[in-house]
Amino acid sequence: AIDISRLRAETGFITLDNGFVNTGSCTSAVTFLNGEKGILRYRGYPIEQLAEKSNFLEVSWLLYYGELPTKAQLENFEKKVASFNKLPEGLETIISTFPKTAHPMGVLSSATAALSAYYQDHLGPNPTDNDKEELFAQLLGQVKLIVARSYRNSQGLDPIESDSSLSYSKDFLNMMFGEADDEVAKALDVLLILHADHEQNCSASTVRVVGSSHANIFATISGGIDALWGQLHGGANQAVLEMLEEIKNAGGDAEKALEKAKDKEDPFKLMGFGHRVYKNFDPRAKIIKVQCDKVLEKLNVNDPLLTIAKGLEKQALEDEYFVKRKLYPNVDFYSGIIYKALGIPTNMFTAMFVLGRLPGWMSQWKELREDPAAKICRPRQIYTGATERNYKDLGER
Ligand code: ACO
Repeated sequence: AIDISRLRAETGFITLDNGFVNTGSCTSAVTFLNGEKGILRYRGYPIEQLAEKSNFLEVSWLLYYGELPTKAQLENFEKKVASFNKLPEGLETIISTFPKTAHPMGVLSSATAALSAYYQDHLGPNPTDNDKEELFAQLLGQVKLIVARSYRNSQGLDPIESDSSLSYSKDFLNMMFGEADDEVAKALDVLLILHADHEQNCSASTVRVVGSSHANIFATISGGIDALWGQLHGGANQAVLEMLEEIKNAGGDAEKALEKAKDKEDPFKLMGFGHRVYKNFDPRAKIIKVQCDKVLEKLNVNDPLLTIAKGLEKQALEDEYFVKRKLYPNVDFYSGIIYKALGIPTNMFTAMFVLGRLPGWMSQWKELREDPAAKICRPRQIYTGATERNYKDLGER
């Protein structure tokens, strides 16, 4: 067998793969996706079946443990997650002292990292299976509380207690708005399921990179939150809505936005379009589009942004630029319209994505920490800087 390490040491041979377009960073049994065929499966189960028949906590269990839970397992898990219905008092205070205008992703990332100050028993480099299970339920319970608290704080409103008699999604909506409709909660649950994992995306890879140094789980998940914040990743859902608003305010001319997105001199991209892996269609976008119609009808919302979004999609799908580059709407093209209809402020959309993606991050972290072949992530580089030169004293420069 070829000794790659020796070869590299002796020859300096290194693979350059900008953006890791074609580099497998790990083996994983969690999520399968085929970008050409538009297939997405969690642990072998098609996303379409899970979105129709399952619920978010069941999917979380499935991702983490690899199998669908029995009735008893699911009930115990729901109880366990619901038992994390409080934040440490100090953390409540910290959240309440952030400026009302703070971006929710900054609050969420800081508050998640700050959990490490309150749960110091979980900072060791080698968590046991029990520790990991405990942390899984804890973060599912507490990140939900942080998101709801950060919203209430931004509105100058008192927090609403978690109600363990409600489903995960219904409890979240109730903590946000003091009320929650079953159908709307179901729609949110579907959105969370669709976002729950997506193999080695930017934030999951970040979680793996941070986790590979054996950093504690709070720091690791906080890193994932930060990666998700970017516009090219989870931040796209906020950017889509802002883009649709802009198009509406400029008279609703979708054509102009398309031309701008095609102009290589202009950094503007059609937000919510394109995907590193999906080159046919994003199966999640198909499901979300249906949910979007359902939610707007149920809530009796007639949103002109939806009309603009549909027009934009139709035109892009007929435009040679987008067709040639295989650019289709991704999961976030329609999710923002649903969040908006639910009354969630635009700058909170990416925090909603965090709620959904958390079980995926945790499942991949568990997989990483249990993989005997796992190593600290430490890529190499191709050095293009100056060759050796001598230091010049300040007066000589
Ligand atoms: N609008 C206009 N042109 C685009 C877009 C877009 N949204 N996306 C890609 N392109 C073009 C690129 O300019 C490039 O053109 P070229 O070949 O003429 O140079 C070509 O399509 C290929 O695009 P890349 O940027 O090389 O593709 P990559 O895989 O690196 O990026 C990404 C994928 C980041 C998703 C990109 O399509 C994008 O920026 N989309 C908009 C942001 C977005 O919606 N992100 C959410 C992704 S889903 C998620 O993370 C949940």
